[in-house]
Amino acid sequence: MKALTWHGKRDVRVDEVDDPRIEEPTDAIIRVTSTGLCGSDLHLYEVLGPYLEAGDILGHEPMGIVEEVGAEAGELRVGDRVVVPFNISCGHCFMCDQGLQTQCEMTQVHEQGSGAALFGYTKLYGQVPGGQAEYLRIPQAGYGPVKVPEGPPDDRFLFLSDVMPTAWQGVEYANVPAGGSLVVLGLGPIGQMACRIALHRGIENVIGIDLVEGRIERARALGVTGLDLSAGDDIVAHVRELTGGRGPDSVLEAVGMEAHGAPVGKIAHQMVGLLPDALAKPLMDHAGVDRMAALHLAIELVRRGGTLSISGVYGGMLDPMPMMTMFDKQLTIRMGQANVRRWTDDLLPLVTGDDVLGVEDFATHHVPLADAPDAYERFQKDKDEWFKVVLRP
Ligand SMILES: NC(=O)c1ccc[n+]([C@@H]2O[C@H](COP(=O)([O-])OP(=O)(O)OC[C@H]3O[C@@H](n4cnc5c(N)ncnc54)[C@H](O)[C@@H]3O)[C@@H](O)[C@H]2O)c1
Ligand SMILES: [Zn+2]
Ligand SMILES: [Zn+2]
Repeated sequence: MKALTWHGKRDVRVDEVDDPRIEEPTDAIIRVTSTGLCGSDLHLYEVLGPYLEAGDILGHEPMGIVEEVGAEAGELRVGDRVVVPFNISCGHCFMCDQGLQTQCEMTQVHEQGSGAALFGYTKLYGQVPGGQAEYLRIPQAGYGPVKVPEGPPDDRFLFLSDVMPTAWQGVEYANVPAGGSLVVLGLGPIGQMACRIALHRGIENVIGIDLVEGRIERARALGVTGLDLSAGDDIVAHVRELTGGRGPDSVLEAVGMEAHGAPVGKIAHQMVGLLPDALAKPLMDHAGVDRMAALHLAIELVRRGGTLSISGVYGGMLDPMPMMTMFDKQLTIRMGQANVRRWTDDLLPLVTGDDVLGVEDFATHHVPLADAPDAYERFQKDKDEWFKVVLRP
């Protein structure tokens, strides 16, 4: 089959690889019909190379048609139309029972000390072949895949794999009090969907911050107060003015470790990107060279006693954190990968009836798998136009 594979920093290719096979009785194989490109994939493209091997298949936002099922793949049947959550979980362990599917005890990656395995996301998460491919093997297939009805286009359901549950969990964890305010930092697909969900859930004062004009405009069109970080004014003061002088009750950080705005961090970051893997990995693990600009801004913005909800992905160990400020402000912080299946019951009604979140118009680009390398490049460089990409294998 054809699959999008990683070969090095900013080097992904469409290669001919072996078709996946059923390996465990709990597996299934799907033929992928649509598969998203995510901001998380850009971290692999730019900085997480030390955790990848040439030939690794990327992608974790797939949907498609079941082609083959193992003997213990539960209710799943050949021909079912399914969306596949990006994390692989069993649905019946201690963690899954609590809605912590990201910590599933059946799929935790013990060698790396990581949580549940993820599709297409480095050795840290089990080096499981990803979904930007013609076919995909799905472990724990009796639980993960979400059956969706025939009829509507793929885009109606595709974002149940990652964007919607991630944004939903981000808003849930932000815990905005009645009548309260929320800042969404970063207006990529995750931040943008979080704005839609926040408004849908009745949060009136939603402020979105980014530095890409097109993305800020998108948020404004929803009814969000959009602010431009690059405008040069004092963003913290500006947000305070909009939130009764105190700062927002909650901040949802949807940027992650490649934030703009930390020049010193940037140089270190680029150095890590250019080092041979053997040197770069320990640096990523321990030297604290990540770019924490967005996280620091989030901590500065949130009001005293407020809640910080972190959806953006961070790597590295000893990043200098403003611990004094965090402690002094009595912040509540919640974070982590989305527990995708935990939120399916909340989200399905939003995509099966009226398209209340506008998911059918969410993606800006649909491209054939063969053009994926070009799409990666554009998605990274042209953030104005290339907002959300869906690949069609
Ligand atoms: N927790 C999860 O389960 C989960 C799931 C999916 C994605 N993610 C992570 O969420 C983050 C966002 O994902 P995405 O697909 O929207 O990515 P994206 O790269 O498309 O969006 C990030 C946005 O942040 C903006 N930005 C950069 N620096 C900023 C700053 N200092 N302040 C404000 N905005 C800034 C960028 O201009 C961009 O619009 C990524 O880190 C991604 O890895 C997490
Ligand atoms: Zn994703
Ligand atoms: Zn489990």
